[in-house]
Amino acid sequence: MIMQEETNILYCGHHSFSLISLAGQHSKHSATTWLPKGRIYYVHRGRTAIRRACEFLHLSPETEVLVPAYNCGAEIDPLVTYGVSVVLYRVQKSGLIDLADLQSRITKRTRAVYVTHYFGFPQPINEIRRLCIDRNIYLIEDCALALFSRDGSTKLGSTGDISIFSFPKSLPVPDGGALVINSTDLAKNDWELHRAPFSLVAKETLSLLKRNSLRSASGTRLFPLFWPLLERYQAYTRYMEPPHQALPPDVPKSFYYDEDFTDKAISRLTKRLLKTFDITTIVTKRRNNFTLLLNMLAEAKGIEPLFKTLPEGVCPLYFPVIVKNRVYLYRKLNELSIAAIEWWAGYHPALPWDEFPDACFLKDHILALPVHPQLNSEHIAFIAEKVVAFIREDR
Ligand SMILES: Cc1ncc(COP(=O)(O)O)c(C=O)c1O
Repeated sequence: MIMQEETNILYCGHHSFSLISLAGQHSKHSATTWLPKGRIYYVHRGRTAIRRACEFLHLSPETEVLVPAYNCGAEIDPLVTYGVSVVLYRVQKSGLIDLADLQSRITKRTRAVYVTHYFGFPQPINEIRRLCIDRNIYLIEDCALALFSRDGSTKLGSTGDISIFSFPKSLPVPDGGALVINSTDLAKNDWELHRAPFSLVAKETLSLLKRNSLRSASGTRLFPLFWPLLERYQAYTRYMEPPHQALPPDVPKSFYYDEDFTDKAISRLTKRLLKTFDITTIVTKRRNNFTLLLNMLAEAKGIEPLFKTLPEGVCPLYFPVIVKNRVYLYRKLNELSIAAIEWWAGYHPALPWDEFPDACFLKDHILALPVHPQLNSEHIAFIAEKVVAFIREDR
């Protein structure tokens, strides 16, 4: 909770939308016009797309999918519950996948390679593509964190046989994902999709609206009246501090796949909102905020940006940093309404984590700082100042 004596705080919560934006004009360069040119299915969640990808590729318990060891768990569970064998490959501490390790794990049973572009930063997708073609394996490109990102001039999501997207990570919408079938070899699959009812998105819609009222009141004298609305984030990793925890901590319940999602299409509300966002503005603002944080935190001790440069074309989702005591920073920043995230804390229990220390390091140490377009340079300076102050305080 914000302390009463903190009077000069700026609201730096997650993105939000106002009801007025629903009446907004359709943008010429909206999210729906950006997606790669393949066959597109708009589904309720990114995980719905992953589950459907299993069907398109005829995966089975006899077939293996190679999946990066640095993962959320929410993308793993639709594969595991579908019954496919998930085999992990190494991801380096830099966040880049280890191509040699990936190659060494290909067997006769391997049917697909799953690649995730972390925080909008591209993996070496052309090399992976060539490997997949050589070995006659499908490529699934996970762009849940990489909407609007490019590798040079290539849109992320246009190289894989199948790519998947999740809209609420990049945009203030309550649900929505896309399954994009780029490969013309993959036959049409006429599954029935039922519009996600409002009840499925009501809770998230309310949070988005609530954050909008906090954002509007921020900086005004009325702001303290809105404080009771602030989300009280629960630190996740406190459950994993040794010696209380013998086993690695589980992922949050919400990461597990709900079979009800399988036949659900995107909600009407999200479909409407998607048409109103302007991509150019979003990409420019995200890049500006990322660059500001990179500069402001360049000299800071005890914190290391995961990505030290911002290549052309990248639309960064967050500013991920490696910190020693993540839970402390997370708590302190969230008390000030700064939407920092303990990124991917928790371990999906179906996977052999002991074999992947670098991925575990990333899972335990990355704190994601927000750079979304509703934050301006003043917010970013506030975030940087507080990060530096809390790290100093913790030493
Ligand atoms: C890398 C990645 N892929 C896919 C998903 C699934 O997306 P959704 O939450 O929309 O189902 C997630 C969710 O956290 C994710 O982190």
